[in-house]
Amino acid sequence: MEDVIVVTGGAGFIGANFVLSWLEEEGRAIVNLDKLTYAGNLRSLEQVMSDERHIFIRGDIGDRACVEGIFRMYRPWAVVNFAAESHVDRSIHGPRDFIETNVLGTFELLECVRAYWTELSSDEKRRFRFLHVSTDEVYGSLHPNDPPFSEESRYQPNSPYSASKAASDHLVRAYGHTYGLPVLTTNCSNNYGPLQFPEKLIPLMIVNALELKELPVYGDGQQIRDWLYVRDHCAAIRMVLRGGRPSEVYNIGGWNEMKNLDVVERICGLLDEMKPRADGKSYREQIRFVKDRPGHDRRYAINASKIQREIGWKPKETFESGLRKTVEWYLNNMEWVNEVRTGAYRDWIEKNYGSR
Ligand code: NAD
Ligand code: DAU
Repeated sequence: MEDVIVVTGGAGFIGANFVLSWLEEEGRAIVNLDKLTYAGNLRSLEQVMSDERHIFIRGDIGDRACVEGIFRMYRPWAVVNFAAESHVDRSIHGPRDFIETNVLGTFELLECVRAYWTELSSDEKRRFRFLHVSTDEVYGSLHPNDPPFSEESRYQPNSPYSASKAASDHLVRAYGHTYGLPVLTTNCSNNYGPLQFPEKLIPLMIVNALELKELPVYGDGQQIRDWLYVRDHCAAIRMVLRGGRPSEVYNIGGWNEMKNLDVVERICGLLDEMKPRADGKSYREQIRFVKDRPGHDRRYAINASKIQREIGWKPKETFESGLRKTVEWYLNNMEWVNEVRTGAYRDWIEKNYGSR
């Protein structure tokens, strides 16, 4: 097989969207290494599970024998690392898995990549890329009048999740600097869209609304996030992989700052229109203000001018069109939702919201 790339975490939300869009847009083979934690779901990849260009392997990025075997067998020209524990609230309840996968797992993966890359021919070495998918949360929290995060912003991670991602970013940077490994890092803002596990704000609110449950808004709901449609993020990663300069960092964002409460109200408005409540009332009636997240970051915003200037990427979807598509997708895919909501999901809901 030629021209193969390896992705890790390709059964998760962004990873699965990336695998699907890679096959649609590039049509080239992709090896997908995923541990299938609670957040990984092969149902998301149903349509490509028998496509010979998609090779799924269940495994851990921290398992060197497994990763080395994959590199030996498929000889990829790139590795894109999505695999991570990704939910801030879970990291507050139990940080260990975050250190294990995001820090140690990334370290083991980098070691395998370094060993593999060292043995490549000089042409192959030049072509090779390791792209690390990271987050804007490593930069901490902004005040209302601060400029958005740029690639030069200081790292100031506030949660165990963002601290573990920051540690992995530093390791990636160091492997570029010390060993000359051709690394790329992307720091992206909040994604939304189809296939997102219903523990994150947007899918949780859609699903709770439809089930006539409370819509739990943390604190005063005035926290700001910069929302990006997931397929726009996937396009940005493809473009950075092809056009990014090794050792560079690219911030990716939607130029779309929104307060949480406004996001929840928009979701209610769309559902009122697309699937009105039987009693004729608005879904807004289900909104409840609950105890805030400890250490809750107040505002994130990304300055995405570098990637636009150097690589020519900018988001295509507006928040209005993207949110409508997303609500529609969940309305049509409640079977997927029910399947990913196992016993482990129910335990989580009880742990996070039971005493709020
Ligand atoms: P997700 O939680 O939906 O998916 C993570 C995937 O990684 C799952 O399929 C899981 O099974 C897999 N995984 C976890 N540990 C693993 C391990 N040790 N080995 C192999 N696979 C493992 O996450 P997501 O929202 O799709 O995020 C993907 C990446 O993008 C993460 O690195 C995250 O930090 C980053 N990111 C996410 C967002 C967002 O808004 N969701 C924004 C910016 C950056
Ligand atoms: O900024 C990028 C990051 O965005 C990614 O790195 C993370 O992987 C991803 O989970 C996301 O982190 P957030 O903490 O911003 O996302 P979350 O969906 O958990 O929460 C979004 C906002 O909504 C946040 O301010 C907390 C709030 N919230 C969340 C939930 C789940 C609520 O008010 N109520 C809720 O029930």
